[in-house]
Amino acid sequence: MSTLTIHAEETLGTISPYLHGHFAEHLGRCCYDGLWVGLDSAIPNTGGFRTDIINALKAVGVPQLRWPGGCFADSYHWRDGIGPAESRPRTWAESCGANVVETNALGTHEFMALCQAIGADPYLAGNVGSGSVAELAGWIEYCNGTADTTLARERAANGHPASMNVKFWGVGNENWGCGGNYDAESYAKEFKRYATFLKMVDHSVQLVACGLNDRTWNLKLVETMKDHLGLMDHLSVHQYWTHGPALSFSDDDYYQSFGAAAVEDDIRFTDDILRFFSAGKHNTGKHNIGIAFDEWGIWHPEAVVASNYEAPSTVRDAVVGAGVLDVFHKWCSRVTTANIAQIVNVLQALIQTSGDKMWLTPTYHLFHLYAPHRGASAVRAEFEAVEVREALPLMSGSASQKNGQLIVSLSNRHKDQPQEVTLSLRGAAVSGGILRTLAGKSDAHNTAEEPNAVSVIDSPLNASGDTLTLTLPACSVQTLTLSLA
Ligand code: AHR
Repeated sequence: MSTLTIHAEETLGTISPYLHGHFAEHLGRCCYDGLWVGLDSAIPNTGGFRTDIINALKAVGVPQLRWPGGCFADSYHWRDGIGPAESRPRTWAESCGANVVETNALGTHEFMALCQAIGADPYLAGNVGSGSVAELAGWIEYCNGTADTTLARERAANGHPASMNVKFWGVGNENWGCGGNYDAESYAKEFKRYATFLKMVDHSVQLVACGLNDRTWNLKLVETMKDHLGLMDHLSVHQYWTHGPALSFSDDDYYQSFGAAAVEDDIRFTDDILRFFSAGKHNTGKHNIGIAFDEWGIWHPEAVVASNYEAPSTVRDAVVGAGVLDVFHKWCSRVTTANIAQIVNVLQALIQTSGDKMWLTPTYHLFHLYAPHRGASAVRAEFEAVEVREALPLMSGSASQKNGQLIVSLSNRHKDQPQEVTLSLRGAAVSGGILRTLAGKSDAHNTAEEPNAVSVIDSPLNASGDTLTLTLPACSVQTLTLSLA
């Protein structure tokens, strides 16, 4: 028996909807043949994007969508993707070791149309590695400019007179590796130069500097930037993890695949660095650099170039993801955005496709289960320490309050056994609610033939007072939405 104590009066901050953000890269079949099938496709589409995917994304909610990479970002030249589709160049594109011909059919305007259709705020990753300050400044002016400039006129001529008002801009991607193999000091100097001129084009943009899940890189980067921290709005960190194959994994693989602790370590040491450099003599009045966890997820060994970075996506993956979302909720005062990789087909996808078929993965259902937390106040929620394996807590969870409701998410990481849990509420009492459950065998997954093998079950919850006991199925995630009494 485990106990989750929820301290309803101890708020941790607001859970930004961006913590449930997504990522679409020109990689494998995420964008082309995933989201985008083109206007002439026999697959029903809305302006070239699959209508079934648009509807599914609207239903789950996509608060923010990062594009066009990933590694692809540092070889992408935005001008190739504007203007009449038939005159766009065919370019030799690269991302993650996969070289393909890029038709540039999906460019800035198409991406913005997708964002509008699904209600997502755009997050554009700019090119530092093979680009220039002028090129990225031009992209910002093209998208956001309101003055009567040639670039703003060009945007209008291409069908978008109003500013696209893109707030989030990545200054490169993984520049310690695929984005140019910089060392931290060189990238910091580059970032300063870029940020100085990008903010001159539009003061309101929020710039994301490229960090790493490595203390030394982040420390050197921030230290080199220390007199100009006002230029940095967010520092990005990526974390992927895996153990064993996507489906036929052993018990040890299963328990080692939980990546939440690694994510929390990255956040903790990056938070330490940011706090140190925004205090004392380094205090430039800029206290609030956020951590942009703008790529995360489980990366199965089958997801390689030859498979288009695709692999089956199971209930295990969703339970692993639940723990990561709980960490983001806990750190919502520091983490400003988080983008699971990736939205369709690639890596820990929410949606998978084959020809005209598409199906939702357990990870899609996870995001649906967690949706009520968006915009809510996170409250402190602590499990008593019960471990299922050394240093791996048996359960994970997070709680928040919004509009007279207490929202609690819980996951049972035990691969094969149900677990009883008692919720002990401090400073709150509840009366009734709804329980949503995602459960299944750890390797259960949906396919084109069986798109609903794994789905969510809703049931009313007879709860009253400040204590509630539940039995969680093996390998499961639940969200309880409870009415505060
Ligand atoms: O998401 C796949 C790749 O992983 C991205 O292109 C890159 O940023 C990361 O290494």
